[in-house]
Amino acid sequence: MNFTIKQLSIQGDGIADGPEGPVYIPFTLPGEVVEGEVSGNRIPKPRIIEPSDNRVKAPCPHFKSCGGCSMQHASDSLLADWKTDVVRNALAAHDLESEFRPIITSPAQSRRRATFAAQRTKKGVLIGFHGRASDTVIAIPSCKLLHPEIMATLPAMEALTKIGASRKAGISISVTQSASGPDVSVEDAKEADGPMMVELGALVEQFKLARLSWNGEVVAIRSVPVQTFDGVSVSPPVGAFLQATEAGQISLTNTVIEAVGNASTIVDLFAGCGTFSLPLAKQATVLAVEGDAPLLNALDAAWRLGEGLKTLTTHKRDLFRNPMLAEDLKNVGAIVIDPPRAGTKAQCEALSEATVSRIAFVSCNPVTFARDAKILVNSGYTIDWVQVVDQFRWSSHVELVALLTKS
Ligand SMILES: C[S@@+](CC[C@H](N)C(=O)[O-])C[C@H]1O[C@@H](n2cnc3c(N)ncnc32)[C@H](O)[C@@H]1O
Repeated sequence: MNFTIKQLSIQGDGIADGPEGPVYIPFTLPGEVVEGEVSGNRIPKPRIIEPSDNRVKAPCPHFKSCGGCSMQHASDSLLADWKTDVVRNALAAHDLESEFRPIITSPAQSRRRATFAAQRTKKGVLIGFHGRASDTVIAIPSCKLLHPEIMATLPAMEALTKIGASRKAGISISVTQSASGPDVSVEDAKEADGPMMVELGALVEQFKLARLSWNGEVVAIRSVPVQTFDGVSVSPPVGAFLQATEAGQISLTNTVIEAVGNASTIVDLFAGCGTFSLPLAKQATVLAVEGDAPLLNALDAAWRLGEGLKTLTTHKRDLFRNPMLAEDLKNVGAIVIDPPRAGTKAQCEALSEATVSRIAFVSCNPVTFARDAKILVNSGYTIDWVQVVDQFRWSSHVELVALLTKS
């Protein structure tokens, strides 16, 4: 049976009309005619009968087997329109609309953090990403997504896998690029005894890793890992949130700076270790609010060492249970808000009562963003514009900054 793809789902699957309702068909594009066996409401292995003009040869040789990317079969222009439409449609579901700026997409080979699956094999070790919908580890020596500095840690990861994995159980290795070398964190590994600690320390020196943590404990620091936020250096704790690409971080930061305008007092909600707070402290007094104390400690230490920064205060607070209230936000010129994927419903309800005139809303989930923006619009805010920022190239993830204002 033939199916014509009508549109892409939010996960990037093609959707066609089937005999019993919509059928989801992976790796297909709008306008394509495909055939294949329906299983439930999916066609897991479609054959393309009429390809779209937007179908391209996947840039990465691992695309067919690796589960890391899902959209390398689509042209950049199709992906740009689709990701913008995902946000537009999420807003439309709440009867909202806005001006959309042209999407900003991070380049290939720019992802600066990744978690690898690693295991010992008969021949040695295997390091890579999980295959599509499977536990199989796929080696990715020619990956087109990751930054070359992340790829350059493969020999170090091989050595760590030989030490930490058994033939029965694999380990996971997270690598974050930092100005002082790779920041590496190994989980699910064999317990480190004395001799192993010595071996790990030597390995950190040999491969010039900045820091190594092992099952949650820092075991060696050769050079404190450093991230730079608009020229201000921060030493984040192990596992700290970091925007996925440097290009994405810069685009988000520039857009946030534009959105807050000339506000002289800014509250940064869900501040992390200061991606936005520190650059904003160059122009305004900042209150950084965040639930995680180690992140705030890193932020505070960076501010103390930073040059030319105005007053920046940190405040540990659970913004889900205890959102900032209107009385906490008197005389505040602008708010930056960058919640986790679950969004920030309680905080937006509390903001309904506030008089803050500008909100720079950063979101990694268009669905919760639209839900929360609706609460703000109902209390008198307008969505002036939306800037979609694609840091997760070739995946279905979408990020955005929106400016909401109230006079
Ligand atoms: C998407 S990250 C943004 C961090 C920062 N704005 C940045 O760009 O690096 C979301 C942040 O929200 C924090 N967070 C999660 N749940 C929270 C809560 N209930 N209250 C306060 N902060 C929370 C996380 O620790 C994380 O730093």
